[in-house]
Amino acid sequence: MNRRDTLKFLVGATAFAGTAGVLGRGAAFAQAKPFILPPLGYANDALEPNIDARTMQIHHDNHHAAYVNNLNNNVDKWPEMATKPIDEILSNLSAAPETVRTLVRNNLGGHWNHTFFWDLMTPGGAKEPSGEVKSAIESSWKDVADFKERFAAAGAARFGSGWAWLVVNKDKKIELITTANQDTPVALGAKAIIGVDVWEHAYYLKYQNRRAEYLKAWWNVVNWDKAAANLKKASA
Ligand SMILES: [Fe+2]
Repeated sequence: MNRRDTLKFLVGATAFAGTAGVLGRGAAFAQAKPFILPPLGYANDALEPNIDARTMQIHHDNHHAAYVNNLNNNVDKWPEMATKPIDEILSNLSAAPETVRTLVRNNLGGHWNHTFFWDLMTPGGAKEPSGEVKSAIESSWKDVADFKERFAAAGAARFGSGWAWLVVNKDKKIELITTANQDTPVALGAKAIIGVDVWEHAYYLKYQNRRAEYLKAWWNVVNWDKAAANLKKASA
């Protein structure tokens, strides 16, 4: 068990088993700060030159941390947010009290999305999909190159801030979607296979307004082994 696995185990063993076992909530829900910022699992500069260290640091330590802090600072307004499974809350946001619904949608959504995102990237690993992920992609697109092009185009076309996703939708079909702001695939009843953050904070320091260039480089850090595991889980 490497350091990352150990951290996953430590968090996952005591908290809600959310995305990859790292979607942080503390050991005791009664604690004042039940939400935890999960570690990146690799160094800030591990994804260089595709994503620069400063961007990773600010993105994780400031942006993601802010979502976690907002949840912890507001948990007293709706204590169930600390006890209900995260996916259950996000898949039925209308059940959240109106007074906290937008806060939960944005911050719990941001927490879920970023946790998924960190876990999907790696400095090593397979650079191209294989096995069932490759087959699934080829069943819906001409080939992997065609899929990558359409995925990146969808991300580039997402107006303003949001995410691009490859999902297994609620009809069990593989599909390419985008979500606005911190909306999640979970809210659509979909299971994410891969997903990329297209908020400017994810790329602006290095790429400025060249989102398409960031999306092209992003393929170099995708953890296809993780994508395969996500597909397996989604298909179960
Ligand atoms: Fe982000």
